[in-house]
Amino acid sequence: MQSPLLPHLDAIRDRFAHVETCPFEGKRVFFENAGGALRLKSVIETSAAYAGYADNQGRDNPASRALMAAIARGKDDARIFLNAPGGEVFVGERGTEVLFRLVRTAALGAAPGGVMLGSTLEHPASRSAMARWAEVTGRPHVLALHDDATGTVTPEAYAEKITPDLRVATIVQTSPVTGMAVDVARIAAMIRAVAPDCLIVVDGIQHASHGHIDIAAYGIDGYAVSPYKVFSRHGYGLGWASERLTAFTKEAVIGGSPRNWELGTRDAGAYATFSDVVGYFNWLGATLGGGDTPRARIETAATAIHAHEAAMMGAILNGLGNRRGLATMPGVALIGGPGDGREGVACFTLSSMPAADLVAHLNARGIRTHIRLNDHYCGNILGPLGLDACVRASICHYNTPEEVGRFLDAMEEAVGQDA
Ligand SMILES: Cc1ncc(COP(=O)(O)O)c(C=O)c1O
Repeated sequence: MQSPLLPHLDAIRDRFAHVETCPFEGKRVFFENAGGALRLKSVIETSAAYAGYADNQGRDNPASRALMAAIARGKDDARIFLNAPGGEVFVGERGTEVLFRLVRTAALGAAPGGVMLGSTLEHPASRSAMARWAEVTGRPHVLALHDDATGTVTPEAYAEKITPDLRVATIVQTSPVTGMAVDVARIAAMIRAVAPDCLIVVDGIQHASHGHIDIAAYGIDGYAVSPYKVFSRHGYGLGWASERLTAFTKEAVIGGSPRNWELGTRDAGAYATFSDVVGYFNWLGATLGGGDTPRARIETAATAIHAHEAAMMGAILNGLGNRRGLATMPGVALIGGPGDGREGVACFTLSSMPAADLVAHLNARGIRTHIRLNDHYCGNILGPLGLDACVRASICHYNTPEEVGRFLDAMEEAVGQDA
């Protein structure tokens, strides 16, 4: 049987900066990808180059034309990456702000009355945007309930709350706490069947680095990506809006294009770095025997990333060689249980050690993870479980089985301290 692991991890890792060594701390395994993925070296070079360009857009000179070409290329590349032939691609301040902008525009543009529907699995970014604009527009904000045991929200849980008067709905594609994926296409289809005019906004922020995005197949109206979680950098969020959402009134400079989602001068470097991200997926797909078009190569890359990460997550949960996995280590409890469906994230507790100490223990052994607290970010998941905190280990396709082994060894040491 063909190995599910990516065949040329050295070449892949070589494309990223600070893979094995933190510039502040020294050697470490990076299992903090859900907080921000490693940056492509090409993104760093592009960012530095664009930071140095003084010219502005819309002028009659070669520099200005080059900047505008970079913006157009970035939008085209993003469309291919998202598989979003219609609508508009735009950049905003960051993922949270893009979600607020999409939800605000949908809530203000939708027919009056009705309800807004989200879920308890959502990150506070979309959930807060929905709460705010439901309040402003005088609509109830209804929530589909996630399942504490499996760490996800099912189409059936949404179905219970879907009514013909739905105006705006939000779906998180992957939970940043449980790591569990959500069936966006099916939920969107169920909403469409009952409330065809409902505007559906998807938070793809935690999903984007783990593979396949197919907006054309989802039947949605808005999608948000945080580029720093998909190998680019901080400083911008990337959004897509459908034709019908784009047609709604938006904040705009008087006299500007009514299609424009963006305010003020664009950061051409943001678009250029997103082209680097798409170029990376394209390169990865090509090295895997890829397909004739960039989209086909991106899909090839996504499939391979998924297989690699599933194998790695399987090892984290169920063991690697003669090492035990988290699922069978005494005292370890997994948020969302030991089942399939995780996209790169495992959150867990150890009965004998507070989460903060376990993060420190792992840090001391060169494994970078992160504590998640029962606060305004993760309380929706941890609160119902009665937990104050947990540890999040999060991987990406450039992580190796050897790194998983080091993590499991460090975990065994922590578990052993209980004995
Ligand atoms: C699912 C999800 N949505 C939204 C956000 C917020 O993204 P940003 O930090 O780019 O605003 C995060 C960040 O962790 C996230 O994981």
